[in-house]
Amino acid sequence: MPKVAVLPGDGIGQEIVPEAIRVLQAVLTDSSLRLEFKEYPVGGAAIDRAGRALPAETLAACQEADAVLLGAVGGPKWDTLPAPERPETAALLGLRKALGLYANIRPVRMLPALADASALKREVVQNTDLVVLRELTGGLYFGEKGRKQNPPAAYDLMIYTEEEVERIVRLAFETARLRRKKLCSVDKANVLETSRFWREVTLRVAAAYPEVELTHMYVDNAAMQLVRDPEQFDVLVTENMFGDILTDLASMLSGSIGMMASASLNGKKGLYEPAHGSAPDIAGKNLANPLATILSGALMLRYSFAREKEAQAIEQAVSKVLDAGYRTGDLAKPGDKVLGTKEMGDAVLAALNS
Ligand code: NAD
Ligand code: IPM
Ligand code: MN
Repeated sequence: MPKVAVLPGDGIGQEIVPEAIRVLQAVLTDSSLRLEFKEYPVGGAAIDRAGRALPAETLAACQEADAVLLGAVGGPKWDTLPAPERPETAALLGLRKALGLYANIRPVRMLPALADASALKREVVQNTDLVVLRELTGGLYFGEKGRKQNPPAAYDLMIYTEEEVERIVRLAFETARLRRKKLCSVDKANVLETSRFWREVTLRVAAAYPEVELTHMYVDNAAMQLVRDPEQFDVLVTENMFGDILTDLASMLSGSIGMMASASLNGKKGLYEPAHGSAPDIAGKNLANPLATILSGALMLRYSFAREKEAQAIEQAVSKVLDAGYRTGDLAKPGDKVLGTKEMGDAVLAALNS
């Protein structure tokens, strides 16, 4: 039986992951696919229990599993640890690097029911349907870091190899080819050498995809264009940190960061997690929106197990619940029916079965 390593992690991770598992189990009752879900400690929770954010047993389980479902890691309790021991670095970046998960896919679609939930105007966001491919194992996050004395200084090296750029850009072209055939590569080639290199490699890869319209955009302009006219975008591809920042921004085009699912792939295995963090400000209160994690479960069925029908069943159940006016607090407007985390999970389960 295929195995899924389940890593709830910290903060709201503990609340949202169980809802996603319930939904996955329900959708699979009518399917020939059986999955074995097993939970492992990660992040601050693992530091508290086992002394480190990515225990060897958890890493081994992820390496052995067919897919990984993760909640979130990090929180104020662990913020003062030395950098290499922190949940974000040791667990999240550690897992991404150890599993070679170089391609982070973050789809951003405005569901009709949520067009008034965004902080941005309905007219601007209502037709948003884009996907960001974020390079996930290179760039500033993984380049050499250090401190200097006299005078005191710090540095993070931004470096990209040709292979690293080529494989994410190729996947972006492949993604665009199956969508509206528009690819926007986001960089800062007016300043950064890594970006000029990124453009060169992108142009070379483009030769194999004449049917895809390729454009280049500076990252500062891309941030502005995303909120001015998101409809202009189909597929975006960018380096690690630009992708981190742009996707939090883009999440508001779908109503809330609580809606943004993600898949991190290496060509064989996938790790699935919401794009948001552990939300310490609302953790433990049954307030978190579990839909980004539930939708990450749908991405798992699509990308790791090729179960398009079951993936769509989850996505349709989520749409149904929202169409019926149910919202978690992050999406709610006056007049909406506000649900807690668990109750939103119940509502998706009920919609699946209806
Ligand atoms: P965050 O995404 O946790 O929260 C930002 C804001 O969005 C908060 O107001 C939060 O309440 C809200 N929010 C996030 N997810 C929500 C949801 N599902 N439903 C409703 N509201 C939601 O970002 P942050 O506050 O900058 O970071 C908190 C911690 O999470 C930090 O330790 C950070 O390093 C970590 N983090 C982890 C991940 C990850 O594990 N993948 C991602 C981002 C941040
Ligand atoms: C994300 C997060 C992580 C990142 C942090 C927690 C290391 O913000 O998954 O977007 O920057 O990649
Ligand atoms: Mn982020």
